[in-house]
Amino acid sequence: MAVDLLLGLQWGDEGKGKIVDVLTKNYDIIARFQGGPNAGHTLEFDGIKHVLHTIPSGIFHENAINLVGNGVVIDPVIFKKELDNLSKFKLNIKEKLLISRKAHLILPTHRLLDAASEASKGKAKIGSTLKGIGPTYMDKTGRNGIRVGDLELDDWKDRYTALRDKHIDMIDFYDAKIEYNLDELETEFFKAVEVLKSLTFIDSEEYLYQAQQAGKSILAEGAQGSLLDIDFGTYPYVTSSNTTAAGACTGLGVAPGQIAEVFGIFKAYTTRVGSGPFPTELFDEVGATMGRVGNEFGATTGRPRRCGWLDLVALKYAVRVNGVTQLMMMKGDVLSGFDTLKICTQYKYKGEVIDHLPYNIEPENVEPVYTEMKGWAEDLTKMQEDEQLPKELNDYIDFLEKELHVPIKIVSVGPDRTQTIHR
Ligand code: GDP
Ligand code: IMO
Ligand code: MG
Repeated sequence: MAVDLLLGLQWGDEGKGKIVDVLTKNYDIIARFQGGPNAGHTLEFDGIKHVLHTIPSGIFHENAINLVGNGVVIDPVIFKKELDNLSKFKLNIKEKLLISRKAHLILPTHRLLDAASEASKGKAKIGSTLKGIGPTYMDKTGRNGIRVGDLELDDWKDRYTALRDKHIDMIDFYDAKIEYNLDELETEFFKAVEVLKSLTFIDSEEYLYQAQQAGKSILAEGAQGSLLDIDFGTYPYVTSSNTTAAGACTGLGVAPGQIAEVFGIFKAYTTRVGSGPFPTELFDEVGATMGRVGNEFGATTGRPRRCGWLDLVALKYAVRVNGVTQLMMMKGDVLSGFDTLKICTQYKYKGEVIDHLPYNIEPENVEPVYTEMKGWAEDLTKMQEDEQLPKELNDYIDFLEKELHVPIKIVSVGPDRTQTIHR
């Protein structure tokens, strides 16, 4: 059977965790394909909120296999904490959670390198989550990395030591000196590695091939969002992996022709956490209200998220780069109560009006051009059916569907699993 993909179309935190959880009942396997513990995927059901970082968001469903693909980078320490948080749910982790031998490991010194790099950049810092993502992917592409499968080799600790020593020299190279206690970090790391080693490692591309042959259904779960993609995002203010559809092929070993549906998920407005350009960002009471009502604080770092109007120029770009076949609009409930809603449909770019995302969207070059729409006052959070949605929200959805040429199949009206309207 084919593989479906779910990915974020903005700067992350669109609500991927919630929707993967909602969709898992339709799938046999949920597979993460890139990113690592920089992700924070929230799901809520039965009054409990869960935040997952590396573990796929299908883990709470009894019958689904959850696979951490080769494209993911794993920090054993954070992974262990995630497992500890899950222990009270009595999930059969050894059978339900499979880890690719080809996934790379985040070492304690990768985190230190991330911190040193950011500190040395001063005002130009990326606003990284400081989870060691950039340095780990650098070691992967530089062909120096340590992979999960290496943990099964007798000499893995020698490999670890060689890479760690190199990292220490690199940390010293940075101007920004950072304080650390490597003994403590390593004690914690090696303990966590033992926990990781107790899990099931697989040759994931072979596993997924056989699963497809056997007619199993697979949903690939993206992390971050398209505008954080290393190639197509707002470089250099991006993450270090391909968050777009192509990343699922390299991050799982799935052939392009095997991809069926591409679910693109977006918030009814826009948020961003960390540095980098954000043309529709609001610095006024409207933006503050979105942040307050939407509870816009990072699920991984707790940092407040920057908020602004929906950017259709950027959204169109993400729909195209990913080949999105179905859209899901999240957090419509947060927009209740605004008299007027704005949607950015074009940019004024160096004196010209354009409707595509240009190379550089720094504020000095780009000014958003807005279309205004009437808002709605109704509380959406208890609505269950498409028919209950207010006219103004339907107008908002119709406008987006016409502009994007892709149907909006899900409208999410609250964080809980049940607050999901299928259209
Ligand atoms: P992810 O990284 O894409 O999985 O998203 P995050 O979990 O980082 O952030 C999304 C936040 O919005 C979480 O706190 C969710 O519980 C919450 N959320 C998801 N969908 C909705 C929705 O439709 N309405 C509201 N109000 N909150 C939502
Ligand atoms: P989920 O999967 C939102 C942002 C960071 C920073 C930049 C680089 O929850 O949507 P990194 O740690 O990758 O070096 O940070 O990317 N970032 C995210 N923003 N959601 C995420 O993941 C993110 N993962 C990274 O804030 O600006
Ligand atoms: Mg998140």
